[in-house]
Amino acid sequence: MLVIGHRGASAHGPENTIAAFKMALEKGCSGIELDVQLSKDEEVIVFHDYVVDRTTNGSGYVKDMTLKELKSLDTGTWFDESFVGERIPTLEEVLQAIPKGVLINIEIKNLLIHQGKIEKKVLDLVIKYDRMKDVIISSFDHYVLKNIRDLNKEIKIGLLIYANIIEPWSYIRIHNLDVYSIHPTEEYLSKGFVKDAHAHGYKVFSYTINCPDRAKEAYEMGVDAIFSNYPEII
Ligand code: G3P
Ligand code: MG
Repeated sequence: MLVIGHRGASAHGPENTIAAFKMALEKGCSGIELDVQLSKDEEVIVFHDYVVDRTTNGSGYVKDMTLKELKSLDTGTWFDESFVGERIPTLEEVLQAIPKGVLINIEIKNLLIHQGKIEKKVLDLVIKYDRMKDVIISSFDHYVLKNIRDLNKEIKIGLLIYANIIEPWSYIRIHNLDVYSIHPTEEYLSKGFVKDAHAHGYKVFSYTINCPDRAKEAYEMGVDAIFSNYPEII
């Protein structure tokens, strides 16, 4: 079972920063998960929330700020003073900083205002940095996944689900999503779910598991990968 650093080793460093991604690798993760969205000037940036208030010294919507404005924010100090000066990375900077061969789960956070624009930009970067084999693109917005598949037949896609969907494999087939993996929240994991997903040819990547006992249960169910903020205790 793979362990993937959720937003990096986000219990130990400020989430979605290059510092947190490097810590995840130092702590033995097989991969990292990160969230992307577009800035006002349509650069792909790595950030989770739609507003900057929780994890920076700024305030306001990401979609209303240019890359230059976002880069002026400190996204380290909110977590710990030792991370002062940490900046919001672009996806391009992360692809430059993380060595080839490391699994990178790029989760696309889509906003209505940018519908249809982020998918090609993400794909172009994955291709530019020759990371087709390393990357899985996931999203709770399944229209995004459909757009990705229409643009590229090879890229691995992860179906992120939060609701306890009945037979996601039927949903995948009906909508021609052609996914590689199903990414359920850990609350809905069961042995039957994992068995059925595997029988239909899908891997199971589950989020977010921070408790070793739950990780052990997931392992015994046959889960393929888990996302964790505490990769070293898992
Ligand atoms: O990709 C798994 C997980 O990151 C989904 O939820 O809100 O942490 O991005 P969230
Ligand atoms: Mg995420």
